[in-house]
Amino acid sequence: MNQDELKRMVGEAALEYVQPDSIIGVGTGSTVNCFIEALISSRIRIEAAVSSSEATTRLLQAGGIEVVDLNHTGGLDIYIDGADEFDAHRRLIKGGGGALTREKIVAAASRTFVCIADASKQVDVLGAFPLPVEVIPLARSLVARKLVGLGGQPEWREGYVTDNGNWILDVHNLDLVDPVSMEKTINDLAGVVTCGLFAICLLYTSPSPRDQSLYLVCRLLLEKGGGGGGGGGGG
Ligand code: 5RP
Repeated sequence: MNQDELKRMVGEAALEYVQPDSIIGVGTGSTVNCFIEALISSRIRIEAAVSSSEATTRLLQAGGIEVVDLNHTGGLDIYIDGADEFDAHRRLIKGGGGALTREKIVAAASRTFVCIADASKQVDVLGAFPLPVEVIPLARSLVARKLVGLGGQPEWREGYVTDNGNWILDVHNLDLVDPVSMEKTINDLAGVVTCGLFAICLLYTSPSPRDQSLYLVCRLLLEKGGGGGGGGGGG
């Protein structure tokens, strides 16, 4: 089975987490695109979606799904998104598609993050995939120097502007043995909007009941009590 087929499988598998008539958070990327296609073709009708990128918004709207502003929804039950890498503790690198900041915001507003990633994304230690860092343009060189100081080799994603009007540094060769502490360190640098590590907040995971050798669907409980303001449990 090739990777496109795996992505289609995980995209379809995520449908089981979607409640009819709910408002869901939707991530960005080719795996999420498979989920959106599966959702549109399914019989499940949702009330609306909160989108993590302009690209996802276009796709949702083209499929007749209303996109609403997070400021008007309050907390969400689920956020569905892919990942560039995940480790055994379900810590993630995201942002290959450049949407990391909005992804982190919508994820933080959701009680459960349903991460859909095919098995090829699993690594022992995060970091083979260069870590995306969204920076305020003025701070690009400053942040790049700080990242070199942290042991990384930042590369400017030249010509790419995020949906928020900022720039991306892709950082190679960072030591991510302790991704929780690195996420905090990078996010604390002046000029950084956020980095693509999703490591700090993952307290609970449960793998997909389906064939894990083919793909992963895991539920990541973001905060005790729920980032969106409700209970939450494992699944
Ligand atoms: C976009 C992301 C994506 O979830 C990540 O890049 C995975 O993408 P794909 O499903 O295309 O492999 O974080 O910012």
